[in-house]
Amino acid sequence: MTDAPDASSPARRAGISLVVTAAAALLLIGLLGNGAYLWIKAFHVIAVIAWMSGMLYLPRLFVYHAEVPVGSPQSETFKVMEARLLNIITTPAMVVTWVLGLWLAWQSGFWMAPWLHAKFALVLVLSGLHGYLSAATRAFREDRNTKPARHWRIINEVPTVLMIGIVILVIVKPF
Ligand code: HEM
Repeated sequence: MTDAPDASSPARRAGISLVVTAAAALLLIGLLGNGAYLWIKAFHVIAVIAWMSGMLYLPRLFVYHAEVPVGSPQSETFKVMEARLLNIITTPAMVVTWVLGLWLAWQSGFWMAPWLHAKFALVLVLSGLHGYLSAATRAFREDRNTKPARHWRIINEVPTVLMIGIVILVIVKPF
């Protein structure tokens, strides 16, 4: 039997983040009117930093986790670290990034800008990678991981490359 103490907790936390973000954004918009844009953008970037910290650190934890024996005390410690990083920081931060990013896109009128479409495509890939890392966290928790440390070392580079592309697109707006 595998222990699944909080199988619903990632979805619950994501839902809570969604509601709290939407309420805070509405409050800012109500209080600041047009001035809300820069505040929302600031919180969007803060959420991006939190999301990226998880996307960069999770596969790094998997590298170490894949190298220790199943059932060892180190393996059990990694399980706790991975679950907390994913459920408390990474997934809620992704939800907040999406909600505020979509609001910025709608509010700024950049909807039709080609750079935003390209950014959107890269963010979709990043979100798919988030799903892959969530599934891997579950696999490690249930001692089902079959991928070697080398695999996780390679995966560790993907969010970095995506982040570089996304930041260049949104700041330089090359097309
Ligand atoms: C989830 C989908 C996302 C959407 C729809 C979105 C959309 C936007 C929009 C419309 C802006 C405002 C641009 C401006 O005012 O010039 C913005 C700002 C920004 N976004 Fe996103 N974004 C998303 C995710 C991300 C991600 C994943 C990252 C980084 C990895 C990111 C990094 C940034 C940065 C750094 C800024 C500030 C740019 C500046 O002020 O020049 N965004 N985003």
